[in-house]
Amino acid sequence: MSLQKNTSAEALISRDETGEAAAQPTETDVLVVNRDPEVRILLNKALFAGNYGSTFVSSAEETLASLRRRAASAVIACVENPESLMTIQALRSEFPQIPVIAFSRFATPDLVRDVMRCRVDDFIFGTFNGRRLLTCLNELLRPAEESVGGGPRLDMPAATRQRDAVEEGRSASPSRRRASVEIICENQKMQRVLEIAGKIAPTDSTVLIQGESGTGKEIVARWIHEHSHRAGKAFVEVNCGALPENLLESQLFGHEKGSFTGAVQRQLGLFEVSDGGTIFLDEIGEMSLDMQVKLLRVLQSQEFRRIGGSHVVRVNVRVLAASNRDLKEEVQEGRFRTDLFYRINVITLELPPLRERREEIPSLIGNFCERFTREKGLPRRSFSPAAIETLQKCAWEGNVRELENTVERLILLSSGETIEPEDIEEHIPSGTRLALDSSFSPQLSLDEVKRIHIARVLRENGGNKMRSARILKINVKTLYNLIRSLDITY
Ligand SMILES: Nc1ncnc2c1ncn2[C@@H]1O[C@H](COP(=O)(O)OP(=O)(O)OP(=O)(O)O)[C@@H](O)[C@H]1O
Ligand SMILES: [Mg+2]
Repeated sequence: MSLQKNTSAEALISRDETGEAAAQPTETDVLVVNRDPEVRILLNKALFAGNYGSTFVSSAEETLASLRRRAASAVIACVENPESLMTIQALRSEFPQIPVIAFSRFATPDLVRDVMRCRVDDFIFGTFNGRRLLTCLNELLRPAEESVGGGPRLDMPAATRQRDAVEEGRSASPSRRRASVEIICENQKMQRVLEIAGKIAPTDSTVLIQGESGTGKEIVARWIHEHSHRAGKAFVEVNCGALPENLLESQLFGHEKGSFTGAVQRQLGLFEVSDGGTIFLDEIGEMSLDMQVKLLRVLQSQEFRRIGGSHVVRVNVRVLAASNRDLKEEVQEGRFRTDLFYRINVITLELPPLRERREEIPSLIGNFCERFTREKGLPRRSFSPAAIETLQKCAWEGNVRELENTVERLILLSSGETIEPEDIEEHIPSGTRLALDSSFSPQLSLDEVKRIHIARVLRENGGNKMRSARILKINVKTLYNLIRSLDITY
C-alpha cells in the first residue's frame, strides 16, 4: 500500500511510528486520492498552509481501506482517469457522510457532468489554486458565519468556471455559493470604475477590463455578472492564455465525435455551457490571430458550429474580457485584430495599479485579515498602525493579489495577536518590501534577486510560464522548480 504522509503537516496531526495515522482522527484530517506527483506537492503545500492534516493514497482500494481504518473529515479526489470516477462512486456509496471535493487540472463539459453525477460536494478544475481549494474545504468543514447551502457546487479556478449543475441546468443564487463579491473601493478612480460597472451591469454590453496583473479584473467581472439579470445563471471563466490554440477552440466551441484524433464523443463548448449567462475571456490578448477571427464571428452572430459539426448552435451569452496588456498597443503592433478590439471595446474599465491607490491598503488589509482568520478558524488578529504604514509603502508590483498573499503569510507566520513592522521585516522577502523607486538594494541575496526578477517576468507575461521561460532562457521545468524552491508568488 502506498499510503503516504504529508510530512510538512506532521506537527499538526498525530501519527504512529509506522507512518499509519493514530487511532484518533484530528478534526481536520483530509484524505487525498491522487497519482500525479506534481499535483501532490501542490496539494500538500496548500493543505499544510490551511492547517489541515493530510494522507495521500493512489487507488480505489487504498481509499476504501484507509477510510475503513480511520475516518477523514473530507476527501479530495483528483480526477485523472476513468478509474477516479469509480473511486468516487465507491466511496460515495460506502461513506456517504464524508464530503468529497473533486479536482482536475483539465476539464471538459462532459467531465464536469460525469463528476457531478457522482454527487461530489464541490468540483474544482483548471490551474491549481491553493486558496480556492482551502476556501471550498473551509466552507464544507468550518461553515462558521457564512451560510452555505447543500447540494453540489462547482469552483473553476483558472481555466474555466461555471456555476452549479450543468446537466440539470439548475441555477443557484450566487450568494448560496459564497458571500457575494465584495470589492474594497475607496480610491476615486476605482469608485469611478465601479460607478460605470454599476451602470452597464444590467445591460448586455461587452466589457473590456484592463489592468496590471492582480489589480482585480476577475473580481470586477464577477461583480458585473452578479449585478446583471444573468446573476442566477452560469459565470464561465476561460483563461485564454492557459490553453494551446486547438484546445482553446475545442473548449470554447465544443466538438463532434470523431472530429479529430481523440474526439471519442461529442463535447459541448463553454459558449454552450454558459448559454443565458456570462462568459469571461481572461487574458484575451493571448489569443492567436486565428482564434480571434473565430471569436469575432461568434460575438457578431451569437452562433457557431462545433468543431467537425455542421449544425449551427445559437446562444445568448454576455461576453466580458480582460487583459493585462494594453490591447490598443497590441493592435498597433499587429498582434490583436482591430475589428475584434472595437467589438469588445464597447466599454473599457481601466483598473489602476495598487501603487496608485495606496489609500485602499488599510481596508484591504483589514478585509483580508478578517477573512483568513475566519476561514482558517484562527483567533482574531490585527495589524498595528505602524505595520499598516510599512505595508502602505511597499512596491506591490503584484498588486492586490500580492498584498493578499502577504497578509496571509504574516497571519500564518507571526505569533503575536498584533502584527508589527518587525514581523514584516522577519517574514516578508525584501523584494516585496522594496519601495517602488529603490530598484537597487545591496542587501539582497542572489536568491532574492532571482525571486524578484522571475516574479516580475511572470507578472509581465500574465503568469504564462512558457513565455516567461523563453524570456528567462530556461526551460519550463526549471522555471517550475524555481517557483517552488524560491517560493515565488506573482
Ligand atoms: N478591490 C478589491 N477588494 C477586495 N479584494 C480584491 C480587490 N481587488 C482584488 N482583490 C482580490 O485580489 C485577488 C486578485 O484579484 P483578481 O484575481 O480579480 O485580479 P486579476 O486582475 O484578475 O489578476 P490576474 O491578471 O493575475 O489574473 C483576488 O483574490 C481578489 O479577490
Ligand atoms: Mg485574473
